[in-house]
Amino acid sequence: AIERTLSIIKPDAVAKNVIGQIYARFENAGLKIVAARMVQLSRQEAEQFYGVHKDRPFFKDLVDFMISGPVMVQVLEGEGAIAKNRELMGATDPKKADAGTIRADFADSIDANAVHGSDAPETAQVEIAFFFPALNIYSR
Ligand code: CMP
Repeated sequence: AIERTLSIIKPDAVAKNVIGQIYARFENAGLKIVAARMVQLSRQEAEQFYGVHKDRPFFKDLVDFMISGPVMVQVLEGEGAIAKNRELMGATDPKKADAGTIRADFADSIDANAVHGSDAPETAQVEIAFFFPALNIYSR
């Protein structure tokens, strides 16, 4: 099915100036960028976005990292977009990510891991709505 997923290029990858290289991977895999914006998250926004992780030991470090600089947020659309984006990203921990994945090539650590992608249709819907009102998504 044609799906949409939320993708975030995290502060580490924005600082490395590889937004374009990461976009090329999405495009070459048949994923279309149908919405995009750069944003400096506030602490409150980052805490809300990652609310499902609020009781995890890494929550504070995750939020600190996500507000350390601007992020690039996009909606990717295409056949099986959620799984396809997760394949392109590779494992959460870059040490475990397959060669040729975004995290293997651009990430430094499990926190500074270059990209985020929705993990399921339900979370994709919530995460897309967090950043983009429907009228700012351009499917064609
Ligand atoms: P992300 O896909 O953005 O979702 C939550 C983030 O928490 C994850 O990527 C990692 O960057 C970060 N994180 C830090 N430690 C862990 C951990 N032990 N397990 C999962 N995610 C972690």
